[in-house]
Amino acid sequence: KKIFAFSIRKDEEPYVKEWSDEHPNVEVEYTSELLTPETAKKAKGADGVVVYQQLDYTADTLQALADEGITKMSLRNVGVDNIDMTKAKELGFEITNVPVYSPNAIAEHAAIQTARILRQTKVLDEKIANGDLRWAPTIGREVRDQTVGVIGTGHIGQVYMQIMEGFGAKVIAYDPFENPELKKQGYYVDSLDDLYAQADVISLHVPATKENFHMINRESIAKMKDNVVIVNCSRGALVDTDAVIEGLDSGKIFGFVMDTYEDEVGIFNEDWRGKEFPDKRLKDLIDRSNVLVTPHTAFYTTHAVRNMVLKAFDNNCKLINGQKADTPVKVG
Ligand code: NAD
Ligand code: COI
Repeated sequence: KKIFAFSIRKDEEPYVKEWSDEHPNVEVEYTSELLTPETAKKAKGADGVVVYQQLDYTADTLQALADEGITKMSLRNVGVDNIDMTKAKELGFEITNVPVYSPNAIAEHAAIQTARILRQTKVLDEKIANGDLRWAPTIGREVRDQTVGVIGTGHIGQVYMQIMEGFGAKVIAYDPFENPELKKQGYYVDSLDDLYAQADVISLHVPATKENFHMINRESIAKMKDNVVIVNCSRGALVDTDAVIEGLDSGKIFGFVMDTYEDEVGIFNEDWRGKEFPDKRLKDLIDRSNVLVTPHTAFYTTHAVRNMVLKAFDNNCKLINGQKADTPVKVG
């Protein structure tokens, strides 16, 4: 049997080798190129493919794989929104993803950035770099003095809650599907409005759906406490960026953490040095002392990347051997 992997980065190569060494009966080949209708031919002779990309898996791309006799595809990430599922179903594709590879990676990043905003470390770094070593007016807020409102208490939200409690914060949460254990412990408020009214820090840990598009908007921000901190390490589409900018300008929002941005595709994970930066609004946010931008790197740890690679290969190996994969995706 043979598995072909697309868009393998340098930092993934050791884990591909690790999996391959542990599975001598499976031939493994890979390329750094993305999967497109043209590159699909590279997988010729393989029984399945392992993939990750933000680029769409279009009908043409899926057809090109099917033309090579390949209909077993394993994603190294969670999101499946960029797959043409109608075509995948028509062609009889079996698809898997890796829904949980390291909730700690994302939760830890969100927690670090929350603490940094509260202690104004970006302002301090800028001052120090300019030779201004005075304390005032850069006074910090202690995490233990904050009520932290967590929206979405799934895998990542729960770890973020634990970390913030470790700092001594009071943690409250909202999720339409309440976790019974957390409910027993009294974390949940009754509505998002309750959470907005009580929280000093609001952190999003929900998937982007049609229903929650721009859930953080002018209306919801107006319901929040003055000097609120908003943390989005989830999905850009959850936040109306213009509304947040207004809140930052008016002083309503104390600080904003963004690891995701609604227009990030084609901008994040690219090198813009020496080139014209393509998004004025994002540049304005990057330049603000009370905004922490990271280019969707919350997930990007050695632990997470290793799990993404190993679990995707495990899944694909099961598929090509006619077994039930651990985390199949609903096709169609
Ligand atoms: P999960 O499925 O375990 O948990 C999501 C939770 O959100 C569920 O409990 C669900 O009931 C809840 N939810 C759904 N809609 C909601 C709403 N409108 N209000 C409140 N709660 C709602 O997912 P997870 O593994 O914790 O991941 C959460 C999100 O983090 C993912 O959907 C993804 O968007 C994002 N993510 C970001 C990165 C990154 O690198 N920045 C990496 C992985 C995942
Ligand atoms: C996800 O897995 O959904 C992420 O957000 C991380 C991805 C960019 C690899």
